[in-house]
Amino acid sequence: MAGTDIGTTGAGGGQDRPIVIVGASLGGAKAAEALREAGYEGGVVLIGEEHERPYERPPLSKGYLLGKTPREKIYVHPPQWYAEHDITLRLGTAVAAIDPAGHTVTLADDGRVEYAKLLLTTGSVPRRLPVPGADQDGVLYLRRVDDSDRIKAALRPGARIVVIGAGWIGLEVAAAARESGAEVTVLEALELPLLRVLGREVAQVFADLHRDHGVDLRFGVKVAELTGDGTTVSGVKLADGTTVAADAVVVGIGIAPAAGLAEAAGLEVDNGIKTDRQLRTSDPDVYAAGDVANAYHPLFDRHIRVEHWANALNQPQTAARALLGQPDAVYDRIPYFFSDQYDLGMEYVGYVEPDGYDRVVFRGDPAAREFIAFWLSGGRVLAGMNVNVWDVTDPIRELVRSGRVVDADALADPKVPLGEL
Ligand SMILES: Cc1cc2nc3c(=O)[nH]c(=O)nc-3n(C[C@H](O)[C@H](O)[C@H](O)COP(=O)(O)OP(=O)(O)OC[C@H]3O[C@@H](n4cnc5c(N)ncnc54)[C@H](O)[C@@H]3O)c2cc1C
Ligand SMILES: NC(=O)c1ccc[n+]([C@@H]2O[C@H](COP(=O)([O-])OP(=O)(O)OC[C@H]3O[C@@H](n4cnc5c(N)ncnc54)[C@H](O)[C@@H]3O)[C@@H](O)[C@H]2O)c1
Repeated sequence: MAGTDIGTTGAGGGQDRPIVIVGASLGGAKAAEALREAGYEGGVVLIGEEHERPYERPPLSKGYLLGKTPREKIYVHPPQWYAEHDITLRLGTAVAAIDPAGHTVTLADDGRVEYAKLLLTTGSVPRRLPVPGADQDGVLYLRRVDDSDRIKAALRPGARIVVIGAGWIGLEVAAAARESGAEVTVLEALELPLLRVLGREVAQVFADLHRDHGVDLRFGVKVAELTGDGTTVSGVKLADGTTVAADAVVVGIGIAPAAGLAEAAGLEVDNGIKTDRQLRTSDPDVYAAGDVANAYHPLFDRHIRVEHWANALNQPQTAARALLGQPDAVYDRIPYFFSDQYDLGMEYVGYVEPDGYDRVVFRGDPAAREFIAFWLSGGRVLAGMNVNVWDVTDPIRELVRSGRVVDADALADPKVPLGEL
C-alpha cells in the first residue's frame, strides 16, 4: 500500500482492510475527503443508511425550505466525486453492530465489512414528542431532506403552523413559515427562545425578532396532547386546557446523539461517544466525530459535544489524520455556528455552559439588531455573537482563545478595534 501506513493495532487488524466510516453525511464525507488529502491510498468505505449521497443540513431549514436553494446545492460532493476518489459509497445501508475485537461491522442486511480503523460519524436523531396523538399525520420533524420537503408542502399562505420548541429548528422554521405567508404559533417550555444557549439577555433579541414578524410566541407552556381524529393532527392541547388549532405541527425539541451502536459495542458513551483530543474512542482503532462525539477539548479542559455544522466540517479532518497515525492531529478549534432568520444573520464563536457567564456586554444596539454580544466570566470573553455585523469572527475567536482579561468599556466601544483589546 502506498501513502500513509495506517499501522493497525489489536486483534483482527490488517493492512489490506479498508478504513470504514459509518454515517454518510457532512462528517462522513469530509472524513473520506481528508483521508485522500492526507495521501492515504488504501480502501475507504463510507456507509450511510440514507439513500441520498452526503448532503448538508443547514439549507433544510433556510434556503432549501424556502425554495431558494436548489436541491443540487445541498450536496457535499458531486455524484462522480466518490468514484473519482476511489471511495466505496454504500447508501441505503444501516450498520447494525460493531465487533471491535473482530474489526468488523455487521450491516442490517446481515452483510459484514471488515475494517482496519473505524470512524463513527453517526450524527444525531430528533427527540420525539412524548405525548398522546404525536404519531398522527401532519406532525413533522426536521432532520433529513425529505422532512424538509414535507414541511415545505405544509407552508402554504394562511396555513396554521404550530411549532413546538423555540430552539434553532423551531425559530428557523418559524421564520421560513412566516416568509411563506403561514400563520405561526411557537410553543416553548422555557421562558425565552434559545435560553440555554444564549442566556436571558440575548434570547430576548430573538423573542422580539419573531414577535415583530407576527409570530405568536408562547413561553413556559407544557404540551399535553396533540388533538386530531387519530389519523391527522388538528391542534395542540396545552396542560392549562388551551388548544391551538393547527394544519401542521413542526416539532423541534432537541436531538439525541446516535451513539447506540457504540454503546452496544462496549465503547465509552456519556452524552455521545467519548473521545480523547485526537477523537479516538475508548477503543484504539475506533474514532468518532461530529454531532455524536463528546470530545475532550484541550482549551476548555473538558469534554464537549457540539451539535453544529462547523464541527462536523472540521473534526473529521483531525480524526482522519489521527487514525492515519499523525500524532499532532489534535482537535482544539473553538466552536462556531451561524443562523439566518428573516433579515437577521448571525455568527457565534466560543463556548459557554448554561449559567457559565457572569456578564453580557453589547457593542452596538440590540434593539436595532446590529450588534456584537460578548459573554464574559471574570473579565474574560467566553464567546461572542455578531448579529448583522460581519468579518469579526477572527478577532472574537482570538479573544476567546487568549483568555485575557479585557476592559468591558473598551469591549462595548465600537471605536476600539477588537484586535486591540
Ligand atoms: C434542519 C437543520 C438545520 C441546521 N442548520 C444549521 C446551521 O445553520 N448552522 C449550524 O452550525 N448547524 C446547523 N445544523 C446542525 C448541523 O447540520 C449538524 O451539526 C450536522 O449535520 C452534523 O453532522 P454529522 O455528520 O455529525 O451528523 P448527521 O448530519 O446527523 O449525519 C449522520 C448520518 O449518519 C447516518 N447514520 C446514523 N446511524 C447510522 C448507522 N447505524 N448506519 C448507517 N448510517 C447511519 C444518518 O442516517 C446520517 O445520514 C442544522 C441541522 C438541521 C437538522
Ligand atoms: N443554526 C443552527 O446552528 C442550527 C439550525 C437548526 C438546527 N440546528 C441543530 O439541530 C439540532 C436540533 O435543533 P432543535 O431546535 O430541535 O434543538 P435545540 O436544542 O436547539 O432546541 C430545543 C428547544 O425545544 C425546547 N423544548 C424541549 N422540550 C420541549 C417541549 N416538550 N415542549 C416545548 N419546548 C420544548 C427546549 O427548551 C429548546 O428551546 C440541534 O443540534 C441544533 O444545534 C442548528
